[in-house]
Amino acid sequence: MRCRRCREAAVIELRQHNAAFCASCFLRHCREQVRRAIEQFSMLASSDRVLVAVSGGKDSLGLWDILLDLGYPSEGLYVGLGIGDGTAEGEPGSGYSRSSGAAARAFAAARGVRLVEIDLPGDYGFDVPTGAAAARRAPCSACGLSKRHLFNQAALDGRYDVVATGHNLDDEAAVLFGNTLRWNTEYLGRQLPVLPGGDGFVKKVKPLVRLGERELAAYCVLRGIDYIVEECPMAAGNRHLGYKEALNAIEERSPGAKHAFYFEFLARASTLFRPLAVAEHEGGLARCASCGSPTTGEVCAFCSLVARATDPDRLAAVSVGLGRTRRGGRRGVPGGAAGSAPGGASVAG
Ligand code: AMP
Ligand code: FES
Ligand code: ZN
Repeated sequence: MRCRRCREAAVIELRQHNAAFCASCFLRHCREQVRRAIEQFSMLASSDRVLVAVSGGKDSLGLWDILLDLGYPSEGLYVGLGIGDGTAEGEPGSGYSRSSGAAARAFAAARGVRLVEIDLPGDYGFDVPTGAAAARRAPCSACGLSKRHLFNQAALDGRYDVVATGHNLDDEAAVLFGNTLRWNTEYLGRQLPVLPGGDGFVKKVKPLVRLGERELAAYCVLRGIDYIVEECPMAAGNRHLGYKEALNAIEERSPGAKHAFYFEFLARASTLFRPLAVAEHEGGLARCASCGSPTTGEVCAFCSLVARATDPDRLAAVSVGLGRTRRGGRRGVPGGAAGSAPGGASVAG
């Protein structure tokens, strides 16, 4: 197998592109795909200050690396979610958040770039498993809403122009698959690689939509980026992973199917659902009475989660007789069916 560009020995075959690449041409291909996504969807201006949300995984660290190489002045944001802190060593998921934070910090130190850190247990008094149980939400739902709020708040506080996340083509195609299966039309109307800013929201972009999971893993290995390989223990067995497996089976028989599914949706169908997404906020947004964030209610979803998760009476009620003792003596239970927002919709972060 030879590299399509330079005819050297290839190290990776990309069937969806009907191509194989040597290491240096593959790295160039990844940067080029990100550059094209940024250009195609007007994601970033060259002067934008970018806040890259980094989880310590291959996607977000790969993204940060590529954005730096493309010349975007970008800093990182890591949110400590307190996942796996109370799990005994050797058990699945033990120390998950600790290892994720360590990977993000090591990358920032190696590249000499700034990493902003927020710690959910330290700064807000609860971790994701405890918060989810107290609010009777699925862990991924409590986690997703916390991350969305904290990314936005951190970007506003630090005066960044854009938040970039490491959602890749596999993620976006799986979310689209879930929303299509259930015809969640409002979510379909909002599933875009760019969400414009304004009205208290900072612009959000997903520059990895042209690259798949396998490409990101290979990119990090070839670049020597030490990322956390383990998946979040709270996500094990969720619907989203099932959709990814189904799409991988389709892709295996029909290379390029994921790309076509997502990009043809954007080109031909997404505008049809846009009016349904807009309708949800027709009444305009109020400001959260507690933190000032845009919200449809009196208090935003994050502040209401904080209140529930840190109310000692409520915590005692949900944890009676259950689970592990966590740091600070609080006890928590993993709650509900994972991987979905209320109503069973799949939410793109
Ligand atoms: P996930 O929601 O875990 O699929 O992650 C999607 C994207 O959200 C990642 O690629 C990161 O950009 C971002 N992200 C996830 N977890 C964190 C975290 N703990 N801190 C900062 N960013 C995160
Ligand atoms: Fe949020 Fe797993 S990373 S629940
Ligand atoms: Zn609030």
